Amino acid sequence: MLRQTKSWVALVLILQVLGAIFNAVDAKPFRILLDTDVATDDFFAFFYLLKLNRSEFELETITINTNIWSDAGHAVNHIYDMLYMMNRDDIAVGVGREGGILEDGTILPNVGGYLPIIEQGMTSAGYCRYRQVIPVGHGGRLCTDTNFGIRKAFLPHGSRKYSPLQQPTAQQVMIETISAGPIIVFLIGAHTNLAIFLMNNPHLKKNIEHIYVIGGGIRSENPSGCCFGNASLSCQPDMCGYPGNLFTDYNSNPYAEFNIFGDPFAAYQVYHSGIPITIVPLDATDTIPITEHFFKAFEESQRTYEAKYCFQSLKTKLAPLSADKSDTMGLQDPSCFVENGKGKCKDGYTMEVTGPGAVHVLVATKAKPNPDVHSKLDQQFFISFLDVSSYYLNFNLSDISNSTHIDQM
Ligand SMILES: *[C@@H]1O[C@H](CO)[C@@H](O)[C@H](O)[C@H]1NC(C)=O
Ligand SMILES: *[C@@H]1O[C@H](CO)[C@@H](O)[C@H](O)[C@H]1NC(C)=O
Ligand SMILES: *[C@@H]1O[C@H](CO)[C@@H](O)[C@H](O)[C@H]1NC(C)=O
Ligand SMILES: *[C@@H]1O[C@H](CO)[C@@H](O)[C@H](O)[C@H]1NC(C)=O
Repeated sequence: MLRQTKSWVALVLILQVLGAIFNAVDAKPFRILLDTDVATDDFFAFFYLLKLNRSEFELETITINTNIWSDAGHAVNHIYDMLYMMNRDDIAVGVGREGGILEDGTILPNVGGYLPIIEQGMTSAGYCRYRQVIPVGHGGRLCTDTNFGIRKAFLPHGSRKYSPLQQPTAQQVMIETISAGPIIVFLIGAHTNLAIFLMNNPHLKKNIEHIYVIGGGIRSENPSGCCFGNASLSCQPDMCGYPGNLFTDYNSNPYAEFNIFGDPFAAYQVYHSGIPITIVPLDATDTIPITEHFFKAFEESQRTYEAKYCFQSLKTKLAPLSADKSDTMGLQDPSCFVENGKGKCKDGYTMEVTGPGAVHVLVATKAKPNPDVHSKLDQQFFISFLDVSSYYLNFNLSDISNSTHIDQM
């Protein structure tokens, strides 16, 4: 059930920690750049971020990763419409454009970022060594691009929309935002955009104070949250005992997690950049499965439009899982199988190592329990998320829009 809830859960955890730091230091907000593939869990995190106190957390820029779960035009329009709903048309949004990497290694300014770095040539179309693990239709990109069909029906539309040749590029907005001063970067999709940025602008590295990565599986052995005697209909017990979550390719590569697998070389660049990094891997997010109690509490507390949108998305997303999990075939690389039918490929595995090739990163391991032991919501995260999602910002949609779309849900 929790297969893709991780970005959202993890971002809330990080922000709680940063909130504590904030009170201790000076009074400037943390400037934030969010790089996302706009999957369901990602936009939950994005709404949460937008609703925090802007004197403490200022989300300035969003860059979109289009290597894995989503396609550029849909992802940009989705973000624009959500920003419009939140009265935040001021936030810059960047995505790749034509550009590329020349044979001699020269990286052109508007490099697309539609492909993993090692496959990026002078075109935005290419082989899909990693992306083929993502189903194109049901359960995959179609669902992310349309948010299960509810995106256009629910969200109001402002004046910003995707415009192929005029859309600001990810690299442009990254350069503008990061050169403006110290910043924190959240990577909640594959790492292509930031890796290209770092390779091209090493002099701006010093402005990135910290990178928070939602991705990887390190010591997790229960990535589907339902192993070892607790199997139910929605479980995939074959995923037990290994750290990864490539549910479409699990038999050939049980080690990788999607966000890293989407562009392993980009992840390598980011981790070896020398910038302080915290990884929130499946190990940590596995400790917060979505419980029935949470689902119910969320259903009952949908006061704001953003809470309604998130709840409807979650409900739609979870619905087909128990009934139909068959339509998710991706890559099944026969050269990766060993005798017992389990894979040996480890592309994209965030493995613990020591020695000269190793880098130091902080790794989150476990969510905080709810201090109220009598509450049915056992994790502090649930309380925080519901609180934040249900309060009103100091405007209402009717103030900014005459949209009729908004009342349909
Ligand atoms: C937002 O944060 C600032 C700085 O910590 C604080 O002074 C202010 O009271 C906060 N506003 C709200 C509405 O909590
Ligand atoms: C199954 O889940 C229940 C409730 O979450 C838990 O108390 C129990 O320890 C789990 N059993 C196993 C074998 O993991
Ligand atoms: C927005 O609407 C809600 C529900 O009708 C109301 O409680 C809240 O006060 C409104 N906020 C503003 C700023 O008008
Ligand atoms: C909303 O409707 C009013 C009255 O019909 C109109 O004057 C105004 O321009 C509209 N605003 C937008 C943003 O469409």
